[in-house]
Amino acid sequence: MIKKRKIGLIGGGQIGGNLALLSVQKQLGDVVLYDIAPAEGMIKGKALDINQLSAVDGYDCRVTATTDPKGLAGCDVIIITAGVPRKPGMSREDLLDINLKIIKDVAANIKAHCPDAFVINVANPLDAMVYALHKITGFKKNMVAGMAGVLDTSRFKCFVAAELDCSIRDIEALVLGGHGDDMVPLLRHTTVGGIPITKLIAKEKLDAIVKRTREGGAELVKLYQTGSAYFGPAASSIAMAEAYLFDRKRILPAAAMLDGEYGLPKGYFIGVPCQIGAGGVEKVFELELDAAEKAELAKSFESVKKTVDSVKL
Ligand code: APR
Repeated sequence: MIKKRKIGLIGGGQIGGNLALLSVQKQLGDVVLYDIAPAEGMIKGKALDINQLSAVDGYDCRVTATTDPKGLAGCDVIIITAGVPRKPGMSREDLLDINLKIIKDVAANIKAHCPDAFVINVANPLDAMVYALHKITGFKKNMVAGMAGVLDTSRFKCFVAAELDCSIRDIEALVLGGHGDDMVPLLRHTTVGGIPITKLIAKEKLDAIVKRTREGGAELVKLYQTGSAYFGPAASSIAMAEAYLFDRKRILPAAAMLDGEYGLPKGYFIGVPCQIGAGGVEKVFELELDAAEKAELAKSFESVKKTVDSVKL
């Protein structure tokens, strides 16, 4: 008998709720929505609400909500959104202390209850949280990744499609580096239907698109006022989970642990193009960067390093 997959969502807030809905709509498997005791009513409500919509389109996946970490046992994939989101005026780094405490609890639960899962972290500051998660769990580096690059690249593509009034499907792009204000959208590797982006959009407009991409998270924090983006982060995390669950071997930008790639120090997590399949992060691709791109990546790495080096475990 083929076993149904089990998707564990740690944190059932804004992103967690959308992850549960998408998991059911895409029929990835049964979902466990885990959160802390004060959120019990909210996660039970979300689980019930989603289960009640299943009949409309005939989804055979069920959501259960629990505040008992034992409920995570047997999960094939875990997506972590446990943590506090930004408020207007805050940087992701401002969340370090508070979210580090949370990730310590989360990491201990994952280690105890689902040591074989592929773990995707979404909590911010992204690259530092995934570093802490890897250190605490001691999981193999291929089984721990951070979701940022898929979202940052999707934001970039969204702005390019709007500028050109073209199908977003025809845009190939890649955003590298840390999930911060100095992330690196690679213009030289961006094409629309095979045509280099620099031939289609003037420099000033492209610079503005790059800036808007870098500040994409903050733009939403300012609009929402009470928290940060949730639809985009949820969809982007599901793309990574699907790649793992169905062994798609997709090449997606994700925060993966470096082992000397890009000439950067080993042991840090930062956004790079990865192949994601049944083996988790099966491969990290090293692109040939020109001097300007290398300098931008080095700058982004320094920001990540500064935050990571202040992590006390
Ligand atoms: N274990 C499990 N869940 C926890 C824990 C914990 N130790 N601590 C807090 N949570 C839960 C909260 O109870 C809440 O339901 O995490 C959930 C977070 O949900 P939201 O506040 O709605 O935040 P969300 O918008 O989903 O963002 C979560 O992802 O993108 C990042 O910056 C964002 O760090 C933030 C995280």
